[in-house]
Amino acid sequence: MRTQVAIVGAGPAGLLLSHLLHLNGIESVVLETRSRADIEATIRAGVLEQGSMDILDQAGVGERMRREGALHHGFELAFGGKRHRIDLTELTGKAITVYPQHEVIIDLVAARLAAGGQLLFEASEVALHGTDTAQPSVTFSHQGEAQRLLADFVIGCDGFHGVSRPAIPAGVRQDFQRTYPFGWFGILVESAPSSDELIYAQHERGFALVSTRSPTVQRLYFQCDPQDHVDNWSDDRIWSELHARTASDGGWKLNEGRIFQKNIIGMRSFVCAPMRSGRLFLAGDAAHIVPPTGAKGMNLAISDVRLLARALEAFYQRGTEELLDGYSDAALKRVWRAEYFSWWMTRLLHTFADASPFERQVQRAELENVVSSRAMRTALAENYVGAF
Ligand code: FAD
Ligand code: DHB
Repeated sequence: MRTQVAIVGAGPAGLLLSHLLHLNGIESVVLETRSRADIEATIRAGVLEQGSMDILDQAGVGERMRREGALHHGFELAFGGKRHRIDLTELTGKAITVYPQHEVIIDLVAARLAAGGQLLFEASEVALHGTDTAQPSVTFSHQGEAQRLLADFVIGCDGFHGVSRPAIPAGVRQDFQRTYPFGWFGILVESAPSSDELIYAQHERGFALVSTRSPTVQRLYFQCDPQDHVDNWSDDRIWSELHARTASDGGWKLNEGRIFQKNIIGMRSFVCAPMRSGRLFLAGDAAHIVPPTGAKGMNLAISDVRLLARALEAFYQRGTEELLDGYSDAALKRVWRAEYFSWWMTRLLHTFADASPFERQVQRAELENVVSSRAMRTALAENYVGAF
């Protein structure tokens, strides 16, 4: 098989890149290890920045997101029994949309297939070859047959545990990372929303986040031990923990409902630089991970592929490699700002078991500073909506 661009991984990065290339007359093949049903059902991120919404719109896949997603003009920070609104639109002129990642995946897969796009699901033994030559290829097994896909470029969109990043020689690559001593316990609940906007709660028992999925399904998270197991958490224990952490003045109360999914995610910050070696380019989680507190993961994946699509378009339409050469630096600039913000939000809102009494007081003072200063609120809002 031969194509112009071989894309490894059908997450938001790989699927959107394939579609943006198609809109510019560039051919690609997407290889994915999992099944279509599996990628369309995996529950992950929920928040789209306005810039991400705009790209999905421009790519012609934003219609359902606009109709079914919930536009949010602000969110709340809760601590010390009080809630404080961060008015995103008043502070930045922008907003965010809560629209689940798997719905973005469903929309992108449908658009690719309607356009005759080549998506190969359940590909196994995916391996990259010759990425430092002008003739890279990817070998894999599909429906029991060994295949080789020749391409001009290979784009690694295969997430943190994929095969693409390790194909950048260790001597070329520098990895930066930090792991956090806590994870997030996430649940999906059948209930009406408890709040019109997301609530990020800091509490001495640990962080909690009240998010939403639809008028009838809510998404809630709370800080936990990353080694803990969902079986240790009965529904009653989960509710009592969430009530304790989100309790606030004014009669507000968290709605309970049937919990129909529980999972625990670890938290890390990670950056691989450069995001390119020869004819191999990385995008999304293959190159970087953020802790979820700032809701940046899917948005970074989308902004990487927007840059990459433009660079490949310039290469195929004008024969220039300038944007390809500048891709890693341009992407990393935004990545590091998001890394900074996600680390800052994580540090501001989580309880660190080893924090001294002094550090705990300073953390509270920082929260007071954020909510009482317009300048601080503006900086938070700009970072949250991705206005950089
Ligand atoms: P992915 O979505 O990871 O897609 C990579 C794809 O590549 C996958 O479909 C995978 O099956 C495939 N693949 C892997 N290896 C291979 C291979 N060898 N060959 C072919 N295909 C391969 N962000 C938030 O902002 N908020 C959240 O609440 C949140 N929750 C998350 C929960 C989990 C469990 C995880 C893992 C991530 C979460 N994130 C969250 C982060 C966000 O979902 C990611 O940043 C986003 O999915 C990145 O998109 P991507 O396309 O780069 O990678
Ligand atoms: C969601 C996830 C996040 O990481 C976040 O900061 C806000 C919302 C969510 O899944 O709804």
